[in-house]
Amino acid sequence: MDNTEKLTIGSITQTGTQPFKRLRRTRMTATLRSMVRETELSKNDFIYPLFVCPGMKVKKEVSSMPGVYQMSVDEIVRECVEVKSLDIPAVILFGIPEHKDEVGSEAYDELGIVQRAIHAIKKEVSEMFVITDVCLCEYTSHGHCGIVRGNEIVNDESIELLAKEALTHVQAGADMVAPSDMFDGRVKAIRAILDENNFHNVPIMSYAAKYASGFYGPFREAAESTPKFGDRRSHQMDPANSNEALREVQTDIEEGADIVMVKPAMPYLDIIRRVKDTFHMPTAAYNVSGEYSMVKAAGRLGWIDEQRVLMEMLTGIKRAGADVILTYFAKDAAKLL
Ligand code: PBG
Repeated sequence: MDNTEKLTIGSITQTGTQPFKRLRRTRMTATLRSMVRETELSKNDFIYPLFVCPGMKVKKEVSSMPGVYQMSVDEIVRECVEVKSLDIPAVILFGIPEHKDEVGSEAYDELGIVQRAIHAIKKEVSEMFVITDVCLCEYTSHGHCGIVRGNEIVNDESIELLAKEALTHVQAGADMVAPSDMFDGRVKAIRAILDENNFHNVPIMSYAAKYASGFYGPFREAAESTPKFGDRRSHQMDPANSNEALREVQTDIEEGADIVMVKPAMPYLDIIRRVKDTFHMPTAAYNVSGEYSMVKAAGRLGWIDEQRVLMEMLTGIKRAGADVILTYFAKDAAKLL
């Protein structure tokens, strides 16, 4: 009794007869370690990104992202069969269109590349939860996420096109849309057009706190969406800001977002935690292309243990507060789980 009391006051004053705390006890066996483990990755957490391109039987590896491919619709369907067999519940589609123009017409064309891919996946792998990335950068000749006038990437006209794009995705059968542009008011515009068309049950996962990041480099090769001039700093967030992320997330929630995303993941774990603790919303994190490429490259060079590091990275993202993780490692992680 005496002994315990002293211990609860603090072990600093403990004498030689009193035990010190042994935090290592619960780490001694694999069984006990797994019993006390606080964070458990699950395949149910993963969304696997896919890049759809024109043609038939096309499967072209992205040079900066080993194991990631641009695939034609037929190959995407085969891929979805495999993804499903690994018990990964969802994919997010990015489109590489046949033609690009100033206003990104193919983004909101009913017969566009993503719309056709959704149809095909839903026909062949109906249980797959299909999410679409809603943005114009892959479809515009200048590579910007919206309409460009002079030096400005204009907001209000662009969000009308994004809303149209989202609607065509949902009409094609998409289960959820994910606007990634970071323009003001786009969640509201998308929610409005979906509701007007009786799609009030289709959720929106907004890229709510999306930073202007160098970690998107390999993705822009994969999606062929590098801006021809300028950059995305007038709409994506400054990496130095944290309070602003909360304002962005709050705005998207007020406009109707169902899941809010932080992107990238690894350098922004503090943001994931703040968003989760502040809003208690279903929270997604995008483990982006550059995070994938770094681990792949170092793994190939033998500098790190790729499998161990990828699992540690995904666990860290979940521990930070993410419920859902978009990751190019989804298949690798599913095989390891
Ligand atoms: C499209 C979009 C981008 C990513 C997802 N959606 C690129 C960008 O904003 O330039 C990046 C994903 C990744 O790097 O894996 N706007």
